[in-house]
Amino acid sequence: MNRLWHNARLMTLEGRGLGIVEDGAVACEDGAITYAGPSAGAPKTAERIDCQGRWISPGLVDCHTHLVYAGNRAREFELRLAGASYEEIARSGGGIVSTMKATRAATEDELVATSLPRLDALIAEGVTTVEIKSGYGLSLTDERKQLRAARRLADLRAVAVTTTFLGAHALPPEFADRDAYVTHVCDTMLPALAAEGLVDAVDAFCEGIGFSPAQVARVFEVARTLGLPVKLHAEQLSDLGGAALAAGHGALSADHLEYLDEAGVAAMAASGTVAVLLPGAFYFTREEKRPPVEALRAHGVPIALATDCNPGTSPLTSPLLAMNMAATLFRLTVEECIAGFTREAARALGHSDVGTLEPGKACDLAIWDIGQPAELVYRMGFNPLHARIRRGQ
Ligand code: NIG
Ligand code: FE
Repeated sequence: MNRLWHNARLMTLEGRGLGIVEDGAVACEDGAITYAGPSAGAPKTAERIDCQGRWISPGLVDCHTHLVYAGNRAREFELRLAGASYEEIARSGGGIVSTMKATRAATEDELVATSLPRLDALIAEGVTTVEIKSGYGLSLTDERKQLRAARRLADLRAVAVTTTFLGAHALPPEFADRDAYVTHVCDTMLPALAAEGLVDAVDAFCEGIGFSPAQVARVFEVARTLGLPVKLHAEQLSDLGGAALAAGHGALSADHLEYLDEAGVAAMAASGTVAVLLPGAFYFTREEKRPPVEALRAHGVPIALATDCNPGTSPLTSPLLAMNMAATLFRLTVEECIAGFTREAARALGHSDVGTLEPGKACDLAIWDIGQPAELVYRMGFNPLHARIRRGQ
């Protein structure tokens, strides 16, 4: 199917900035972009769609979510309002483990059904690629169920789903010892799930209430032998040197990073590891330490953004609101916010086929009813999406 979207303004995200083309057009053949640029050079195509001056960006990429889970943590939210901290709740058996219990109790069908509205909320704001982590099953059977549910979401909606195995997310109650659980993750869970084709990347939670750098390194070693890329929840609550560890393993990304120091930034720059900032979690946990945005810029570390959609620290299903938070709370520029949910998010997933409007890339588009790009970042709780195109449809 040949199509041409014309009379549009483009944010191609090609190169470094937004790549603005004022009088632009995008052509598509068999789901891939064949042209993105000035109208004057556009191919003559049978089916022409008049965008009436609207803006076209690449379809959004949400590169860090935990959106497949059961239950919710609204009760914990109330406890936190009454003064309890995230770490206190985690240590007293709440937190990730309470979502684990609900997720274990759900069937795969129930997980799909309960997660679909969250995915639909992302799609409604122009998301065409989403990463989904496991990490609420914490046993072979239950992590499998979560990853299978994530894969099934891609059959139910026109969206690309990329799965990440986060077995080393929290200690399940049947294990008394973190090292013993990591052995189970390394020797049993990860090899089995990878063999079943359920794992596109491997993540871990490197934190005092999660896993130590030495334990994370063991998981990363297994990922390497399986040929799987790695990423890491690092420096969210404290500085354990997780980002530098991840960088040393050639990680695609290190995520959160509020407590990242200069050495960690330099290590990420050297390995090309993307910094994924998660303003929803920063906001929701009322974190006060901002990620080192100036140092990331100074070292040329690519910055991506994501919703971190999860029941405990970021019950957020709005990429547009995440952009606004990144600008307001982290002082990211409009360009950085939009690139963070397109080009740089694709890079954080290792996906070279999405994230920009360029010939050869997938024709995943978001068409916006806005007068200027800053409107995507500036509004709160308003959705100007006019249409979403996935693989040219
Ligand atoms: O990205 N930090 C660890 N993982 C999630 C939170 C998970 C939860 O509390 O359920 C995060 O913040
Ligand atoms: Fe997360």
